[in-house]
Amino acid sequence: CGVFLVFPLSEEPMTCYIFSCKQLTKGDAMALWGGRFAQDAEKCVRDFTQSISYDKRLYKHDIEGSKAHALMLGASGIIPQASAEAICARLDEICGKIEAGDFKYQVELEDIHMHIESELIKMLGDEGARVHTARSRNDQVNLDIRLYLRDEILHLVDGIRSLQKALVAQAEANKRTILPGFTHLQHAQPVLFAHHLLAYVEMLDRDCGRLLDARKRLNVLPLGSGAIAGTTLPIDREFVRKKLNFPSMTRNSMDAVASRDFTCEVLAALAIFAMNISRLSEDIILWMSQEFSFIMLSDAFCTGSSLMPQKKNPDIAEISRGKTGRVYGALMSILTICKGLPLTYNRDLQEDKEGLFDAIDTVNAILSVYPHMIETMKVFPERMAQAASDPGLMATDLAEELVRKGVPFRHAHHKVGALVRFAAEHNKALNEVTLEEMKSVFPEADEAMLHVFSAENAVAGREVFGGTGFQQVASQIEFWKKELAGPENGK
Ligand code: ARG
Repeated sequence: CGVFLVFPLSEEPMTCYIFSCKQLTKGDAMALWGGRFAQDAEKCVRDFTQSISYDKRLYKHDIEGSKAHALMLGASGIIPQASAEAICARLDEICGKIEAGDFKYQVELEDIHMHIESELIKMLGDEGARVHTARSRNDQVNLDIRLYLRDEILHLVDGIRSLQKALVAQAEANKRTILPGFTHLQHAQPVLFAHHLLAYVEMLDRDCGRLLDARKRLNVLPLGSGAIAGTTLPIDREFVRKKLNFPSMTRNSMDAVASRDFTCEVLAALAIFAMNISRLSEDIILWMSQEFSFIMLSDAFCTGSSLMPQKKNPDIAEISRGKTGRVYGALMSILTICKGLPLTYNRDLQEDKEGLFDAIDTVNAILSVYPHMIETMKVFPERMAQAASDPGLMATDLAEELVRKGVPFRHAHHKVGALVRFAAEHNKALNEVTLEEMKSVFPEADEAMLHVFSAENAVAGREVFGGTGFQQVASQIEFWKKELAGPENGK
């Protein structure tokens, strides 16, 4: 029968606890699972197995969950009501201490769950030692992550909505600005700059949709699953469900403690968001290059070179494009952690958090700068118009003119292709070809066909729903203004 001093629960010797002979008595203490162990863990093992260095960010949600659990234990008569109330009051106190930076973290206590429980026992003695009744860290940590993500997702969606608003404001300020649309990074057809920006608004809307959809699926109470199989004690999961405002609860305790697919979903949504941001970033980087000169970012959102005095670099866009890699990394990490894991909880799952937190921090960091960078971006409509005046951009319009004359499209495509070759061979731009020359390539040519080479007309002609026509885009801008004026997370 040994007495193992691991950490003092109080300065006051009389109120210290001993876990000795696998039994809790007054005196000193060791790790909360200490009863089974005859020897203290090596320091390097404690350092290796700890998660407190990163899971401490779950403190608020851990406390929220523990309070609901304690109240349920009290209401169900599993622990005295007075103990439940004392536990809740002390948990609030612990929360205050943590927020005041007054809380001591120590690797011996492994994770945030054990830190808070130990502190509770230190404050309340036997009453505190009742909080973990009918609960395991396996269902507790699962609950904490769900509570955390449920909040975080709303915050992320808020950030994405701000970025959408900034893009819509730029679209509205540039309603008539035309630039070349690209496919294969080659001039394709003229489009409105607003149309291009609204493409990102659409992509970002789906990002919000994916996050909110993942939120619906993770918004399920796992507590009550215990370590794996539930509990023999008469707990009331419905009570906890209501207290924590979960629409439903997990139906299978093994699934509940084993699964992190909700984390995979959130990370997949963040990875797709990062991918979308990397594309917007790439466009911005190209547009700001000397070759394009379509836009200029504000000085406040660029940095210079330590060597070349003339440099002004679009670093926010570049770093965001680069950060996409680490968000993908977090997704790959969680997928790999979960791959092939036998049911149910395995300690591998502790590795679920760092990547998740990092991805959330990364996306929040992007969202803390991106909307302002877009808001303050200067647009050069003349430069864009100049690039869009390339008559080659209207070759499709010419083919469509031929279609209007009854020529089957594939033939029209061929005829216009021949005209492009003719112009190139005669060293002319497409709009410099005369009517006679055009007629020599295809007899259907007429005067009207000489007027298709206007980017304005090309845009104006595309009033199909979803097209780049002026009215279409104006109504899309109105749509988004209304959509984004509503309650942020209501969708
Ligand atoms: N820190 C652990 C984690 O993040 C908590 C659960 C530990 N459970 C256990 N049986 N050791 O996963």
